[in-house]
Amino acid sequence: MKFLTSVIKHSEISEEQLIEICRLKSIRWDYNLDQHKRWMIENIQANDFHILIKDEEKPIAYTNLVDITAIINDKNIKVRGIGNVCTSETGKGFGNILMEEVNAVLAQNQWKGILLCKDNLVPYYEKFNWKLINSDKIMTKKFENTNFMNINFSIEIDSLEYNDRNF
Ligand SMILES: CC(C)(COP(=O)(O)OP(=O)(O)OC[C@H]1O[C@@H](n2cnc3c(N)ncnc32)[C@H](O)[C@@H]1OP(=O)(O)O)[C@@H](O)C(=O)NCCC(=O)NCCS
Repeated sequence: MKFLTSVIKHSEISEEQLIEICRLKSIRWDYNLDQHKRWMIENIQANDFHILIKDEEKPIAYTNLVDITAIINDKNIKVRGIGNVCTSETGKGFGNILMEEVNAVLAQNQWKGILLCKDNLVPYYEKFNWKLINSDKIMTKKFENTNFMNINFSIEIDSLEYNDRNF
């Protein structure tokens, strides 16, 4: 298989690419194309990036890298929030291709990454060297039941607060 990865700045994305992404997302999240599109318009900003991977012409994996600030150890830190992680189908290795690409883009740009996920996906992200932040370090009440994971931090995370936008 020949995979083609596009890393697209949101300010430069085409309408066609936006629709491809919404179609792919609607396989995994049961909203119609208009709803997915509205979510993007409301939540994604010019300096955010999309990673879209295709097998020939067919989109098979997607995520976005959102430009946000988290309060880590009481300091504002610029990070990339990795959101909307999805593949077109499970069991084909697309999840491996996607996370290897995410890690490569973060490393190339020297970006720190954070993501939120449910318990069942913690081992998936750990496979790609993402680290779980202990729940007692998460200071923002609304995230008490969500896992935060991180990558590319050179410091120990003793506390994390998150009040920036959805991603
Ligand atoms: C999460 C998701 C992106 C993973 O991609 P995928 O296509 O299912 O993953 P793959 O089938 O390619 O599996 C890749 C590897 O990860 C492992 N893996 C996948 N899900 C896993 C899980 N929940 N726990 C542990 N390992 C997991 C697989 O065993 C496989 O390992 P291997 O290559 O060593 O055999 C995909 O399932 C998805 O789109 N889910 C719905 C949307 C979602 O919940 N996104 C996450 C938001 S935080």
